[in-house]
Amino acid sequence: MKTVRVQASTSYDILIGNGLLSRLGKFLLDVFGKPCKIAIISDSNVFPIYEKSVADNLNQADFETVSYCFPAGEASKSAATYLEIVNFLAQQHITRADAVLALGGGVVGDLTGFAAATYLRGIRYVQIPTSLLAMVDSSVGGKTAIDLPFGKNLVGAFYQPRLVVCDLDALNTLPEAIFRDGCAEVIKYSVLYDAALFDHLQKNGLGFDRLAVISRCVELKRNVVAEDEFDNGARQKLNLGHTVGHGIEAQSNFTISHGQAVAIGMAIVAKAGCPEIYERLLDVLKKFQLPTTTTLSAKQLYDSALSDKKRSGNTVNLIVPKKIGDCAIVPTEIEKLESFIEEGL
Ligand code: GLY
Repeated sequence: MKTVRVQASTSYDILIGNGLLSRLGKFLLDVFGKPCKIAIISDSNVFPIYEKSVADNLNQADFETVSYCFPAGEASKSAATYLEIVNFLAQQHITRADAVLALGGGVVGDLTGFAAATYLRGIRYVQIPTSLLAMVDSSVGGKTAIDLPFGKNLVGAFYQPRLVVCDLDALNTLPEAIFRDGCAEVIKYSVLYDAALFDHLQKNGLGFDRLAVISRCVELKRNVVAEDEFDNGARQKLNLGHTVGHGIEAQSNFTISHGQAVAIGMAIVAKAGCPEIYERLLDVLKKFQLPTTTTLSAKQLYDSALSDKKRSGNTVNLIVPKKIGDCAIVPTEIEKLESFIEEGL
């Protein structure tokens, strides 16, 4: 097992390894000091696979558990489901001495984290990410949110968990397409920060060393969060491929997944902003069976980019590679964005 310590407004450990769910009760006793009541929140994909064993393991360590399951999918990351969850916590008399446990992928983590951040003005929560994307990205760093009809993640809070447990065995029950989706974020970390990681991914493709690679991505994200917890500077680099990618997701009515859209977004930004890495990036994305092109026009992508959260006034901060392992934040005037995207198509 590897342990990565996050130093933020609340400091906590991220545990990464195989077979960790069978030791969950012990890990939580180490963090909380004594048993309490734990509300397990999960979705209809993950709940049937893991809820019983998680609850049994916590009960054996004298934690009392209650569980709540909501329908899987981005549509549940809504104000309505959020209210259902906080109502459930209130009905179950969850107090500040208790805790919430997010068991699932990115939607479960973001939604449960936001419920934990706001219920009783904040109670303790633990992340158990079961998707690759949640392990390397959304469970780390305390971003919690729900969507509004006007856009994704428009209401949320920075609120750090007390512990993150990444049991790599959970990846064995993940559909392959969802695993590949998470790989787009893994490739993103390598382009942003780590040429050796990029080499490893290029050489090994989907057969990469899961413990080493996931731990490295978590360390890289931990470093960014320690430097810029509240997303005012360095953390914005994690948006590589996302400004264009969010446009692709939205314009496709979310039939193109987040990871696929980020892969295409990275390819477009590399072709337009750093052509010397373009061929190598394409090679890696193709090894992971991720798409690299879109039939959408520069105008369609530009229109979507206008609602990017990282936009400020007339400028949007594009993340542009300088070389493999190093990228820059490039403030780009809105008028120049369409021609930049055009160059990358
Ligand atoms: N998912 C990007 C971030 O945590 O900043």
